[in-house]
Parts: sequence; structure tokens; C-alpha cells
Amino acid sequence: MTLLSWRSDYRVGIDVIDCEHQALFGLINDFHDKFAGGDTHGQLLVVLNRLVAYAEAHFQHEETLMREIGYPHLAEHQQMHEQLYSSIFALNEKLSQHGATMNADTLRFLKTWITGHIIQEDLSIGEFLERKIITVRRGAPGAPGAPMATREAQPSVQGNATPRAEAVK
Ligand SMILES: [Fe+2]
Repeated sequence: MTLLSWRSDYRVGIDVIDCEHQALFGLINDFHDKFAGGDTHGQLLVVLNRLVAYAEAHFQHEETLMREIGYPHLAEHQQMHEQLYSSIFALNEKLSQHGATMNADTLRFLKTWITGHIIQEDLSIGEFLERKIITVRRGAPGAPGAPMATREAQPSVQGNATPRAEAVK
């Protein structure tokens, strides 16, 4: 059984971000499937390393996008990304120790690690962009100078859904 299923309420509404979130889901599901399938600790660590590397790249993409669209809560969001990254990095370090084991708590952590952030924080980015597009289209004061970010012509973040690096040392 799949650990994480993509649902419409996870949708931020910005294609590149949704695509990367789905890739994160895919990596976590891969970890879960290998765990359930009895893969070795070493094989699980390979997937976890990919997840750590992909998360780092994804957070950077999201921050670039927030900067481009003038998202007002960038600094707080960046701090949350740092905490999220630290927690997954620490998990990876812990599980890399000799004799460490993975269990159901590891899976629970990974599940809430990503879904909690999407629901509590990332959806606000999409809502902000949506409001901004509506404001620009209505020609509100200040609108002519506003960036023309739309769902069709989105910010210049690369939509690479492939894990960037093989491992984090
Ligand atoms: Fe985020």
C-alpha cells in the first residue's frame, strides 16, 4: 500500500512546485515500499540520501519563486525550510550510524514532514499568487509595475522533477 497519495488539497496551484512536491512524495513512497519489501538498510539509505538532496534543491526553488513573486512571508518560510532540512538531515545522519534501525516512526516522520509543511505553509504561496494575478488583471493601483506571473507564464524556477544528487555526504 502506498504511504502517500497525492490529493487535490495538496495542490499549491503553481505547476513547478506541485511537480516537485509529487516527486518528494514519490521518493518517500519509494522509501516506504523498500522498507515494506525488506530491502537492506543500505538500500534504504540510498533513497533517504536522494530525498535529502532533492528536498534541499526543492526548498531553494521555492524560495527563488517566493522572491520573484514578492511573497511577503519569505523570511519566515525560509526559516521553516531550514528547520525541515535540518530535521531530515539529522534523521539521515542518525540512520547512517552503525547499528541504527528504521521503523514505523521513521515512516510516520517522513509522512508528516512533507504533508504538514505543504498544508500549513506552501498553500499560502499559491493563494498569494492567485490574489496577485487577480489584482493585476483588474488593473488595481500599482498593478502595471507588478511582475506578470501567471500559471501559464510562471517564474523561472526550473521544473526538474528528477532528484538532483545521488547522495548527501
Ligand atoms: Fe515550502
